[in-house]
Amino acid sequence: MQAASAVDAPIGVFDSGIGGLSVLQALRAELPHERFVYLADSGHAPYGERGDAFVAARTHAISAYLRERYGIKALVVACNTATAAAIHEARAAHPDLPVVGVEPALKPAVAISRTGRIGVIGTRGTLASAKFARLLASLQGQAEFVVQPCDGLAHAIERSTAQALPADPASTEIRALCARYTGAMGRFGQAPGEIDTLVLGCTHYVFAQDDLRALLGPEIQLIATGEPVARQTRRLLQVAGRLAPSQGEAPTQDAVQLLTTGALDPLQAAAARWLQLPADCCAAVQVPS
Ligand code: DGL
Repeated sequence: MQAASAVDAPIGVFDSGIGGLSVLQALRAELPHERFVYLADSGHAPYGERGDAFVAARTHAISAYLRERYGIKALVVACNTATAAAIHEARAAHPDLPVVGVEPALKPAVAISRTGRIGVIGTRGTLASAKFARLLASLQGQAEFVVQPCDGLAHAIERSTAQALPADPASTEIRALCARYTGAMGRFGQAPGEIDTLVLGCTHYVFAQDDLRALLGPEIQLIATGEPVARQTRRLLQVAGRLAPSQGEAPTQDAVQLLTTGALDPLQAAAARWLQLPADCCAAVQVPS
């Protein structure tokens, strides 16, 4: 294992699949001088309907793997479901490693909603978690929240990456699921009593933003978490004295490595589509629990 404190070590990032690439986009923009190793646990996705014990075991195995194989200097859990199920355990298991999680951005939504009625979509696991219940309770009285689990949506997004055409079956399914779930939440709009702000409480859903916008209209505010997570990562690295020096050229060689426990092709397609990265950044690996 490399020394975890080395400023030139990579930052580890993981998600159940390709959803966390939306967080990686924000991390690369905020921290252009850092190296990243991203693990998509696509062989075990989706996490959202699997239960806490399974998700905690995967989080444990992946954190240990990224430390041992890549000597990461910080870990970003780019998955709301894994954060809700296992971030405390990850921090306890790696007390010397900065660990950043993601949670649905309810507080920023309260700050910008005019109607005070806010929609939250996420996985069943995230929205049923004790962590989410505490977050909701902490904002009681400040807004009304309409909470909608979206079974199957992350999985459909995961499958769509291999086929980028709008007419592919997974894209059709994404649009149908978005319509069904947002339809069940009540009216969206700017009038009193209508939902004017929608929190994307799953990192996969960022990749369905265009479908959600087309359904709900351009005036509905969609809130994701990539940018605040990237800023928090910068803060923690700074405090730990592990920020890569920002003078000189940004790294090019191995600046981003993308790993998957599933099939390689979909990750390569997602890397090209969402991050404009070449196929040779991607590799298939095994991470046994
Ligand atoms: N992208 C993940 C999240 O943010 C998990 C989706 C899933 O695997 O169900 O919750």
